[in-house]
Amino acid sequence: MIGDIRETEECQLKDPMDLFHSGQVVKICAPMVRYSKLAFRTLVRKYSCDLCYTPMIVAADFVRSAKARDSEFTTNKGDHPLIVQFAAKEAQVLCDAARIVCPFADGIDLNCGCPQRIHEDLKRTVDLCQKAEAAGVSWITVHGRSIEERHQPVHYDAIKIIKQSMSIPVVANGDIKTLKDAENVHHLTEADGIMVARGLLANPAMFAGYEETPFQCIQDWVDIALEHGTPFTCFHHHLMYMMERITSKQEKKVFNVLSSTSAVLDYLNDHYGVW
Ligand SMILES: Cc1cc2nc3c(=O)[nH]c(=O)nc-3n(C[C@H](O)[C@H](O)[C@H](O)COP(=O)(O)O)c2cc1C
Repeated sequence: MIGDIRETEECQLKDPMDLFHSGQVVKICAPMVRYSKLAFRTLVRKYSCDLCYTPMIVAADFVRSAKARDSEFTTNKGDHPLIVQFAAKEAQVLCDAARIVCPFADGIDLNCGCPQRIHEDLKRTVDLCQKAEAAGVSWITVHGRSIEERHQPVHYDAIKIIKQSMSIPVVANGDIKTLKDAENVHHLTEADGIMVARGLLANPAMFAGYEETPFQCIQDWVDIALEHGTPFTCFHHHLMYMMERITSKQEKKVFNVLSSTSAVLDYLNDHYGVW
């Protein structure tokens, strides 16, 4: 058993390549340690996200320990298409981890990009991507920043050059906060898909075209998180992200220090009257 899905249960795997072949730009929830877990994936899928990644999982721990498998990976029948992201130094360990998880996953991603993404010398990045393509990867995601760059603008021009050098799909990532940004980035890079991390934390409904988190989405998060038994810190942190743009400084001072699920529910009930 992995997480809450049993090996005997029929898993409805979906080929993510069908999305890339559909001709639409694929809308993707990025891997996010601590955040892109089953409950959050369930929420973003409800709001037009096509494809989700798990948080990065250390392949060696996953192979070694049943406890690590159960705590790091949870899925269910509706959680597809799903890409499981591993960090691994050795090919054999990655392969072993992939074998264990493959009955439940629609793809495996190798994290090659933390913290480097593109290289200062773009030719080296193009060369690396072409080697990965020759090795048989299905697609490549590029966060258009180099190791030194944290807050500088994303190099969408570099992503475009990478895209033009490859035959497989390329996914663009970095600083996409709204559906309009996604359209612009698609236009600038000609990428086949758009991956979003912080934009979805702030507004899990952004792929459905909402400019800021709708109350319905907050309500959905509460329902889904409680149903999944989400630990309080994770439940609360997601709400802080989602409510960042729609609450005043004063409200944040009160909300952000709440320390129990019941206190959060009382707060939401008092302020929005929906729980
Ligand atoms: C909270 C958080 C956790 C992240 N965890 C991962 C991770 O597990 N694996 C990974 O490859 N990238 C991770 N990243 C990087 C994002 O996937 C993404 O590449 C980066 O945030 C840029 O995209 P954005 O501008 O849409 O946030 C993380 C980012 C954030 C904000």
